[in-house]
Amino acid sequence: MLNTIGVIGLGVMGSNIALNMASKYEQVAVYNYTRDLTDKLVQKLEGQTVTPYYDLEAFVQSLEVPRKIFVMVTAGKAIDSVIHSLAAFLEEGDIIMDGGNSHYEDTERRYDELKSKGIGFLGIGISGGEVGALTGPSIMPGGDKDVYEKAAPILTKIAAQVESEPCCVYIGPKGAGHFVKMVHNGIEYADMQLIVEAYTFLREKLGLSVEDIADIFETWNQGELKSYLVEITAEILRKKDDVTGLPLINVILDKAGQKGTGKWTSIQSIDNGIPTSIITESLFARYISSLKEERVMAETILAGPDKDQQSLDKDMWVEYVRQALYMGKICAYAQGFTQYKMTSRQYNWNLPLKDIALIFRGGCIIRAQFLNVISEAYQEKPSLTNLLLSPYFAKKIKDYQYGLRKVVSKGIQAGIAFPCLSASLTYYDSYRTGTSNANLLQAQRDYFGAHTYERSDLEGVFHTNWQ
Ligand code: 6PG
Repeated sequence: MLNTIGVIGLGVMGSNIALNMASKYEQVAVYNYTRDLTDKLVQKLEGQTVTPYYDLEAFVQSLEVPRKIFVMVTAGKAIDSVIHSLAAFLEEGDIIMDGGNSHYEDTERRYDELKSKGIGFLGIGISGGEVGALTGPSIMPGGDKDVYEKAAPILTKIAAQVESEPCCVYIGPKGAGHFVKMVHNGIEYADMQLIVEAYTFLREKLGLSVEDIADIFETWNQGELKSYLVEITAEILRKKDDVTGLPLINVILDKAGQKGTGKWTSIQSIDNGIPTSIITESLFARYISSLKEERVMAETILAGPDKDQQSLDKDMWVEYVRQALYMGKICAYAQGFTQYKMTSRQYNWNLPLKDIALIFRGGCIIRAQFLNVISEAYQEKPSLTNLLLSPYFAKKIKDYQYGLRKVVSKGIQAGIAFPCLSASLTYYDSYRTGTSNANLLQAQRDYFGAHTYERSDLEGVFHTNWQ
């Protein structure tokens, strides 16, 4: 009996995707360049319909036609070498699916290369980490629609399901799927940093214990902040260190890593004139955190403000922090979805913003109740210019901006760094300002560079001899 799908790359993600497919009654062929990972997966099998292969040609020949091969290897050159090795055995109409965190421009190149050989190529964003891969990720497939349709029966089966709907929808042509995943990660970075800043205020300004803060996050997770990241934060804060018995969070080194997808999101937005200040500040926060040794030294030299001894009403300020976090999220998602909208127009992708929000409701790292509201906003007005302008969010922000302003100003007076909360407030205040002071910038540019300027009262382009 021929296998219905093949998986190449048996790291944790690839193995779990293969097991997920088998759990949905697919006949899965698996292959890894080194046999150790193949053997490791085989040892885990308990009757699942997964067949290991140690020869690439045999792996390919075991697949029903048109062959569907899901590649889960590290983004970059590894994908190209897998595609190169496969090309020798594939026939016109076969399909390669890249489920790694590939850069969408690489995906566009691979799509073109394979298209010229009649091979279908889908660049597929997969979100949800190891658990998601096994139990149901959010799946963001991009490529030719007819090629997607051939893989859709399997992809929609292995995806997370929300209200009996798969968190998998055709995203758009060529690199669109990997682009949507990239910005998902940019939003993820911002979301995570906003949570860190809320935690920082509660811990450093309100002086709450790790356990108290865990209780607060758990309570928030029952309401409109219900989300995977808020939920795991409560769990993380409750985790005790096996060695000391103290909260594990207290002994984790404060140097953040990153694999690059958040950076790509910022670079693409800067290259294309899209304001993603909150996403970019979350990236810079990771960079500054990596300067640990320098920060320890700087702390001995650079003084902060005098300690403010004023005691704060805990319940009132916890609510301010909740409002601040929610408003920060709205602003960060507004920036991410604006990046979708502007890039979709640039590439003529016609990204389905409503559906993207829908498939983010389950499986992915940024899954949250809040995405229902975002999807409804685009349902009501598909041409919505900015998420902030949707009636629901405009009203919510009108109420919650007070909390954000209180937390940011109180925290900044206390010398606490709030890169994303303050960037959220600045983005909001800049975006809602009809007449700004960028005219002074224009005057400065014209003064020293004769770069000219427009006038608000006359048509045309002007230059002034300022000296
Ligand atoms: C996901 C995650 C995942 C990401 C890791 C590491 O959607 O499942 O975003 O794709 O690669 O979380 O990301 P960083 O190392 O860049 O934080």
